[in-house]
Amino acid sequence: MERPRRLRQHPALRRLVREVTLEPRHLIQPLFVHLGPEPEPIASMPGQYRHSLESLEEAAGQALEAGLGGVILFGVLPQEQKDALGRGAYDDEGVVQQAIRRLKTRYPELLVIADTCLCEYTSHGHCGVVVGNTVENDTTLKLLAQTAVSQARAGADVVAPSAMMDGQVRAIRKALDEAGYPHVPILSYAVKFASSFYGPFRDAADSAPSFGDRSSYQMDPTAGVWDALREARLDDAEGADMLMVKPALAYLDLVRLLKDRFAKPIAAYLVSGEYSMIKAAAERGWIDERKVVLETLAGIRRAGAQFVLTYHAQEAARWLTAG
Ligand code: PBG
Repeated sequence: MERPRRLRQHPALRRLVREVTLEPRHLIQPLFVHLGPEPEPIASMPGQYRHSLESLEEAAGQALEAGLGGVILFGVLPQEQKDALGRGAYDDEGVVQQAIRRLKTRYPELLVIADTCLCEYTSHGHCGVVVGNTVENDTTLKLLAQTAVSQARAGADVVAPSAMMDGQVRAIRKALDEAGYPHVPILSYAVKFASSFYGPFRDAADSAPSFGDRSSYQMDPTAGVWDALREARLDDAEGADMLMVKPALAYLDLVRLLKDRFAKPIAAYLVSGEYSMIKAAAERGWIDERKVVLETLAGIRRAGAQFVLTYHAQEAARWLTAG
């Protein structure tokens, strides 16, 4: 008789046949940074902060020490410093540019990824230039390209466009190449849904759109597989070096699909709402946080993600190293 339990009897046997691996290097820690003097806790994301430049440096040092794959930076601006064209995003003295310079000077070995988008810097909170009631695609491309070049100039190791404008990967690749950064890779948020799981992030970055929503550029969660394949095919062809699916858990089928179809590393983003749900249940004592987090991350790896962007990264790395 077939007895799958035979291979489960002994811890050493279970270890021998275990296929899914999860190590700190598979995890990227997202970090928020603002120009205020103090770190501010983010209420809807327990354990996460809007860092000051100083506390950011500390957090980055911990990431390096924990052996994480790297960090991804998000800038936070006070409302009065935002404008209709999101100038803070492509300002060489912008918050993220300052942060990148500081981190790369202090920790040259740390992989620093810059999120490339306008929504944290626009007064209306949309990811591009708004004309009337529409978010204009092609004028936005220029600004995204400028943002990526400015981030590369500051020393970003990777740029990660997340605005979901058509042609953004091509525009950014071309601009980086022309500006003398042909070696800077693009991690594309290729398959990014208009998801309600981003709620806590928008609190954290104060980037909720002031009118409408993002459904005219981010993907419809119920669109279907064709839309994911199309977005991934385009970004692949436009020169993305790595392709990301976001959010993670409701879209693990697409992580697997991309893994099987494209000869590029696939990433997944376990987003703010996914993090906060685990935190909230754990705070109530309803789940074992450590076990649930590690099980979740292993599941994302099994689906085919080479690495995972997750607010749990720092803690998970600690748990993994402690055994
Ligand atoms: C910027 C961006 C967002 C997230 C990552 N990059 C917000 C959005 O699209 O509204 C969400 C991350 C998260 O929820 O953790 N466009």
